[in-house]
Amino acid sequence: MTYLVTGGAGFIGSNFIYYMFEKYGDEIRIINLDKLTYAGNLANLKEIEGRENYRFIRADITDREAISAVFRENEIDRVVHFAAESHVDRSIVDPEIFVRTNVLGTATLLNCAKEAWSTEDGGFVEGKRFLHVSTDEVFGSLPEPREGEEPTYFYETTPYDPHSPYSASKASSDLIVKAYIDTYGFPANITNCSNNYGAYQFPEKLIPLVIANALAGKSLPVYGDGKNIRDWLYVRDHAKGIDMVLQKGRIGETYNIGGHNERTNITIIKTILKTLQELLPDDDPRKANVSEDLITFVKDRLGHDRRYAIAPDKIKREVGWEPDTPFEEGIRLTVKWYLEHQDWVENVTSGDYQQ
Ligand SMILES: NC(=O)c1ccc[n+]([C@@H]2O[C@H](COP(=O)([O-])OP(=O)(O)OC[C@H]3O[C@@H](n4cnc5c(N)ncnc54)[C@H](O)[C@@H]3O)[C@@H](O)[C@H]2O)c1
Repeated sequence: MTYLVTGGAGFIGSNFIYYMFEKYGDEIRIINLDKLTYAGNLANLKEIEGRENYRFIRADITDREAISAVFRENEIDRVVHFAAESHVDRSIVDPEIFVRTNVLGTATLLNCAKEAWSTEDGGFVEGKRFLHVSTDEVFGSLPEPREGEEPTYFYETTPYDPHSPYSASKASSDLIVKAYIDTYGFPANITNCSNNYGAYQFPEKLIPLVIANALAGKSLPVYGDGKNIRDWLYVRDHAKGIDMVLQKGRIGETYNIGGHNERTNITIIKTILKTLQELLPDDDPRKANVSEDLITFVKDRLGHDRRYAIAPDKIKREVGWEPDTPFEEGIRLTVKWYLEHQDWVENVTSGDYQQ
């Protein structure tokens, strides 16, 4: 079974590759195709780069020639499509690259897979699957639950209502995948997952940023009142969900992935500070830096969604997926990983990884 993983040098893609090799060993082959933008880092894959059943190809998913060649030269059974521009703040500053990579790139990849997998009778070679990895941000924003009222959630049937250029570009890419399913009967699935956290996340995102800044005694910027709610999932539970949808999901279906872990941003920050205090030894000079006094409220993000919350009922019911990692355990593992991999953080923050 040969997997083409796009964006495998990024945060979730690299965790997915580790997960798959740990689970399937030599039973599978993985081709990781990544452009290596600022977010792609081959150091994320150091522990598996020597495997015979792993190969890295540097290419852009909008490069039709390069992608066609990958399909021509390899018998690809599964595409797991992570490659994307993924940072909301960057999308507000420069939306065009988000449209290019996330929309055009997805369309290019779909088209190359369709060509490679088509049969003469208008169908597709048996057993092929394309999994498009998407986000809960496509659904827009939920209200904060009020006293006495039932909270609302994102279901697979919730209408799309994206607000940032990032979520609008992901919503567009989801719709292109849906169009391939509906028009051609293309064998694809879409997964919409909540916020991920864990090892190898680029330190511009909330959790690694707070860990790095707190250790350095730098301010911890919090948008608005800090009460925006995100639904957090440990990245390996996301990887497990993707693998299970590929195994057991119904072709053409969308599955929401989330573990009912809603937290305000300010709660996340305070939990990280507490965990750092617990994990750092008393003689570590950085321990004195770690304090809630570093929290600095800054002007709210433009178009900032208030609350995201996934209802994972369908993936649980149809696929049997359950998350394994409670938030308290996952956040501890994550903080510990960053403390033990300060060389990785240094390499990223200094820009050396791009050499
Ligand atoms: N991080 C989250 O919390 C989260 C949650 C749900 C869904 N997602 C989705 O999961 C996917 C992966 O997210 P992530 O957080 O790992 O992102 P990331 O930014 O860490 O990684 C993206 C990877 O894609 C590569 N890439 C970017 N443009 C490319 C192009 N044109 N061609 C080939 N490769 C390219 C980058 O080099 C990088 O390795 C994205 O599609 C994202 O929308 C992320």
